[in-house]
Amino acid sequence: MALLLGCKLLCLFLLSLFLVSPSLSAELLYQFCGSTGNYTANGTYESNLNALLPSLASNGSDPGFYKDTLGRVPDQVYALSLCRGDVNASVCRSCLDRARQDALQLCPYNKAATIYYDYCFLRYSNLNFLNSNDNSDLFYMWNAQNDTDPDKFNKLATELVNRTSQYAAFNSSRRFGTGEANFTAADPKLYGLAQCTQDFSGDQCYNCLTGMFSVMQSIAGQRGGRVLGSRCNFRYELYRFYEGTSMLQLPSSSSSPPPSNGTNTTGNGNTTTPAVPTMGGDGNKNNIGMILAIVIPLVIAFLLISSICICFWRRRKRRMAKKLPHDTNPEEITSVESILFDLSTLKTATANFSEENKLGQGGFGSVYKGTLQNGREIAVKRLSAGSGQGIGELKNELVLVAKLQHRNLVRLLGVCLEEEEKMLVYEYVPNRSLDTILFDSIKREQLDWGRRYKIISGIARGLLYLHEDSQLKIIHRDLKASNILLDEDMNPKISDFGFARLFGGDQTGGTTSRVVGTFGYMAPEYVMRGQFSAKSDIFSFGVLVLEILTGQKNSNFPETEQADDLLSYVWEHWTQGTISEILDPSFGDRWPRSEALRCIQIGLLCVQEDPASRPSMSTVGLMLNSYSVSLQAPSKPAFCMLD
Ligand SMILES: *[C@@H]1O[C@H](CO)[C@@H](O)[C@H](O)[C@H]1NC(C)=O
Ligand SMILES: *[C@@H]1O[C@H](CO)[C@@H](O)[C@H](O)[C@H]1NC(C)=O
Ligand SMILES: *[C@@H]1O[C@H](CO)[C@@H](O)[C@H](O)[C@H]1NC(C)=O
Ligand SMILES: *[C@@H]1O[C@H](CO)[C@@H](O)[C@H](O)[C@H]1NC(C)=O
Ligand SMILES: *[C@@H]1O[C@H](CO)[C@@H](O)[C@H](O)[C@H]1NC(C)=O
Ligand SMILES: *[C@@H]1O[C@H](CO)[C@@H](O)[C@H](O)[C@H]1NC(C)=O
Ligand SMILES: *[C@@H]1O[C@H](CO)[C@@H](O)[C@H](O)[C@H]1NC(C)=O
Ligand SMILES: *[C@@H]1O[C@H](CO)[C@@H](O)[C@H](O)[C@H]1NC(C)=O
Ligand SMILES: *[C@@H]1O[C@H](CO)[C@@H](O)[C@H](O)[C@H]1NC(C)=O
Ligand SMILES: *[C@@H]1O[C@H](CO)[C@@H](O)[C@H](O)[C@H]1NC(C)=O
Ligand SMILES: *[C@@H]1O[C@H](CO)[C@@H](O)[C@H](O)[C@H]1NC(C)=O
Repeated sequence: MALLLGCKLLCLFLLSLFLVSPSLSAELLYQFCGSTGNYTANGTYESNLNALLPSLASNGSDPGFYKDTLGRVPDQVYALSLCRGDVNASVCRSCLDRARQDALQLCPYNKAATIYYDYCFLRYSNLNFLNSNDNSDLFYMWNAQNDTDPDKFNKLATELVNRTSQYAAFNSSRRFGTGEANFTAADPKLYGLAQCTQDFSGDQCYNCLTGMFSVMQSIAGQRGGRVLGSRCNFRYELYRFYEGTSMLQLPSSSSSPPPSNGTNTTGNGNTTTPAVPTMGGDGNKNNIGMILAIVIPLVIAFLLISSICICFWRRRKRRMAKKLPHDTNPEEITSVESILFDLSTLKTATANFSEENKLGQGGFGSVYKGTLQNGREIAVKRLSAGSGQGIGELKNELVLVAKLQHRNLVRLLGVCLEEEEKMLVYEYVPNRSLDTILFDSIKREQLDWGRRYKIISGIARGLLYLHEDSQLKIIHRDLKASNILLDEDMNPKISDFGFARLFGGDQTGGTTSRVVGTFGYMAPEYVMRGQFSAKSDIFSFGVLVLEILTGQKNSNFPETEQADDLLSYVWEHWTQGTISEILDPSFGDRWPRSEALRCIQIGLLCVQEDPASRPSMSTVGLMLNSYSVSLQAPSKPAFCMLD
């Protein structure tokens, strides 16, 4: 039901965007309002902004490229503008004038905004983005008409865009290129355009453009599309949408497919395909050619819906499959017998629990690596004697936990309950735990921005499954970097979930007299009053996110004059707008600013003092995956370092 409700909400959300987009002015394509805070009315920031923006339109060099900064921190404004390479100075100026007014109106008192039009775009921020490759605030649109032969179209479009991008990057000092290619008899020509900001070198420009090529795959089959970022953009259509002659002609021999038989031509050679809009000059091409203006988040939302639906469908399928006797998937586990391992098997697999095979030691016991006779690698957790629960109760729980299966959870393969021994057998995950890499001054280099983002998203998915999607509603209660294992592709897998449930006997929430967990990750209400809920896991997740981004341990934070724990340290920099100073130095400058800010903000939202104001895991998932979900401003985090 929750899923259906989620779907409905998303659909409403999608619908509202559909309704809103076309009603926006024909020229305004999309705007992103920043998340770096508001400025005060009549303050210095506002006056700097009002002084800087008009000069973009008046002082912009051909073709309206301009970047500049004005004022001093904390009121320093950075701005960048670019007009499409084929428009003349008067069109450029009026577009930028309009951009400035619209941005101030659409993102009121926002320190940062990016706004896109047909002929120009404008971006400003209180953070310095001028000297980086940062191409964020990306969005794309496509032509609503389907193509009859999508494969052919997409192949030609990719080649045209690739060649036009090369031209823009390497043959044009203005970093602007247009090109055309013959398509079919029915759709005579395909037109392409690519452009970067002029301050980019050829390589920077080409890298920027190729970085967005993959988006073309997601809109394959549409008769045109455009992808716009704040540093480069390209567009391709079956009609001429730019002024002037094309700079590039794609030779037909290599690329254009021969006129096809399938497309219907009438006897006199007139095409029957609906006329493609031409450059009519009165601007109505926007209405005809581009019916849909959809932003990336929307597409991500689509993907989210489809994945939800696929999950739903799979689960139903799995449930149906349950009736088939040959099925051996986890849903089939009905009794503890089916997951029992012999003690002798485990002894053989681990060379009698030898020291060489020992992977680590934790509060609950030791972990050994083992290899089964069929070659499968396992990790055996040998629990110290006397963990709380009765054997019967434990068996029931084990059966439930063994059924949990998610690619971001370490899989429990079975158990061994013999001769006073309690052992849990897990799949073996090769790359050890996150803390051994993240907090190691050399190994941390392996974790670039993309990997860390993937790790954060993966943990979020695993936790969402535990909290909301599994039958058990498990609160982990000891989420921390050393409980996140990494597989060979650095995908995170949460381990030790269900532990508290297995051995503490607690149900879905409440009060406990025995606080389990790890200092530095525990929510204040849990530490102080023993109250736990899904929201205490969210707190631990927030701490983990901040640790992953800064590379700093919360529990072992070096005291500085500014702050003596990670949360207040991040908070200080967040309020001062100096987040770039606290991100892990090993990123260098290879991190996307808006994504990083968003992640920090999500982390801060999760560690707020009041459990009720922390987001749920499903909200966190949405916030991570969709740029169109606007984030609240976090309140001051709870500081629970009571040592
Ligand atoms: C910024 O201003 C907008 C509109 O005035 C408001 O909705 C938003 O909550 C403000 N954000 C912050 C962080 O104050
Ligand atoms: C800002 O200045 C304008 C006129 O200069 C005035 O009308 C307005 O009330 C001022 N706003 C604030 C918040 O001071
Ligand atoms: C930019 O424009 C402003 C007025 O809008 C002018 O005062 C300034 O001199 C110009 N700067 C350059 C470099 O042309
Ligand atoms: C600039 O282009 C627009 C539309 O393409 C045209 O109407 C206008 O006359 C041009 N202005 C100049 C100065 O060339
Ligand atoms: C394009 O194709 C999709 C699925 O193939 C279809 O649902 C949609 O209606 C088509 N759109 C147009 C304008 O033909
Ligand atoms: C673009 O062209 C280059 C060579 O001209 C080629 O190596 C590359 O694979 C092409 N990229 C795509 C996405 O087709
Ligand atoms: C682009 O530049 C390359 C080398 O600089 C040259 O070989 C090529 O012919 C140029 N292409 C066009 C269309 O001018
Ligand atoms: C494209 O087609 C037109 C007419 O069909 C032809 O004149 C032209 O040479 C072709 N262009 C290329 C680059 O093949
Ligand atoms: C269609 O193509 C086939 C060969 O591919 C050719 O024999 C046939 O004559 C063509 N038909 C028309 C109507 O052009
Ligand atoms: C072409 O269109 C006509 C009518 O418009 C139709 O009768 C004929 O079958 C079509 N031919 C093909 C190959 O689609
Ligand atoms: C094609 O059709 C248009 C009207 O749809 C007509 O004016 C034109 O003469 C036709 N061309 C030929 C070559 O028959």
